[in-house]
Order: sequence, then structure tokens, then C-alpha cells
Amino acid sequence: MTCKTIAVANQKGGTGKTATTLSLGIALAKLDKRVLLVDTDPQGDLTKSLGWSNPDSLEITVANHIQAVIDGIDLQAREGILSHKEGIDLMPANIDLASMEMGIFMAMSREQILNTWLSCIKDSYDYVLIDCAPTLGILPVNAFVASDSVLIPVSAEFLPASAMTELLKTINRVKRQINPSLDVEGILITLFDTRNNLAREVEQTIRNQYGNAYRVFDSIIPRAVSAAETPAVGVSIFAYDKRGKVATAFTSLADEVVCNG
Ligand SMILES: Nc1ncnc2c1ncn2[C@@H]1O[C@H](COP(=O)(O)OP(=O)(O)OP(=O)(O)O)[C@@H](O)[C@H]1O
Ligand SMILES: [Mg+2]
Repeated sequence: MTCKTIAVANQKGGTGKTATTLSLGIALAKLDKRVLLVDTDPQGDLTKSLGWSNPDSLEITVANHIQAVIDGIDLQAREGILSHKEGIDLMPANIDLASMEMGIFMAMSREQILNTWLSCIKDSYDYVLIDCAPTLGILPVNAFVASDSVLIPVSAEFLPASAMTELLKTINRVKRQINPSLDVEGILITLFDTRNNLAREVEQTIRNQYGNAYRVFDSIIPRAVSAAETPAVGVSIFAYDKRGKVATAFTSLADEVVCNG
């Protein structure tokens, strides 16, 4: 199959982007898909959550590949890719990425930089998932240009607000101007607590407000203590609590994503 690249994005912080990238990636690997996860957040949360607890000590990260594209330097595209024992590959990120925004802005074709690197390696994978930082800056825009679709995790703990409108506007702008084949993969409700009335209200609001124009996944990711604990352990929810409700939810999300084609 050809590779599908999905950016996991929401400029609102703490909506479960990193957890979704990681757990969906491993769920897809369990379906025998070849998966690359790309960390594009200078916080390096995805890198840390997969067990590389000190990303700043890594020699090659996505920042080096971005710099190599900007400078036209030869850097083997697979250099720095890490293999995780649960069957996925990771291109890590660290704080080096934080100081690169200006360099990217000054570069030629600044929105295409990540795409230029990714195009060289995506043939080795069925899915590439890009974990975006909580901004709408040049890095997420690079992720949208490099992607076939955007998956939007939305927290069930807050009613969706103007942030969602801004995000959809940015996606549509990239689609109009640079990447006409970009789609919204779907809106994913996360951090859902069944005991919380607001969570049900948020779900209804999202399905009513966006369900006509966009796919809202049937799968909903519940809030669970086990899921909050996994980033510190460096393994996925499938290794930590494989029969739990969060692992089950990500398995059904992976089925939905595969069915989406
Ligand atoms: N299903 C869950 N149940 C409980 N806690 C969760 C769950 N998913 C994620 N968390 C926790 O919620 C917090 C936010 O999750 P995560 O880091 O995935 O969000 P994010 O959108 O990537 O955040 P940021 O915007 O900072 O990048 C983290 O502390 C994470 O461990
Ligand atoms: Mg994150």
C-alpha cells in the first residue's frame, strides 16, 4: 500500500495529541502496518513518552533534517531514526527545534521543508504520524503540507471554542494554497470521563457542530489513570494496560483509520 501521512494537531495544549500519536501508531503496528512516528514538538514529549527520557542528548533529531534541507547539506534521510521495541520507528525531537523557527521562515519554500525530508523515506512505511506542537506556527504548517490528512484530538473537558475554528481555517488555507489533497482525517474526542456531564455535552456539541462537515470518530478515548501513567514508563498503553479501556479505544480508532483508507 502507499504511505498515508497523518498530522495529529490542535493548537490548544493538552488535548491528547502526543498520547494519540503514540497509541494510534502502536495500534496500527499491531495490525502489521509499518509505522513511523515523527516528533515535531520542541518539548520532545513523544520522544520522552517512548522511553528516550533525555531527548536533548540525542545526536540526530528532526531538527538536523530540517537544517539539512535548508542548507542543502547531505544527510542520509534515515539518520537518527530510533526503533521502539513495540514495533514502530521514531524520528525524535528535542529543544534544538525551538530555535529553528526563524531559520525556517527565512528559507526558500519554507512550508515544504518537512515534506522534502519525509518524501525521501515515506515509501518504507504504511503510516507516518506527525505529532504537532500546540501552535499554528510554521512547524504545524510544514506538517500539514507533508500530510494527506489531519487528525484533531479534542478534549472532552472543554467546550470547543474559537481555537477549533482557527485550526480548521489554517488547514483549509494550506489545502487551498499548497496541498490540495489535504483532508481532515477526523475529530477525535479524548480525555472523556463518563461521570462528567460536561463530557457528554462536549461530545454532543462536537457531533452537532462538526459532524456534517467532518468525520467525528465513533471511537472515543476515555480518561484513565493508567493512560496518564504511561509516559513516565516509556511504553504504550498496550504494554502497560493492554486489556484496559484506553487500549481498547485506540484499537477501534486504528480500525476506523484503516477503514478510512
Ligand atoms: N486517556 C488519557 N487518560 C488520562 N490522561 C491522559 C490520557 N491521554 C493523555 N493523558 C495525559 O494528559 C496530558 C495531556 O496529554 P498529551 O500530552 O497527549 O496532550 P498534548 O495535546 O500532546 O499536549 P501538548 O499540547 O502539551 O503537546 C498528559 O499529561 C497525558 O499523560
Ligand atoms: Mg504533545
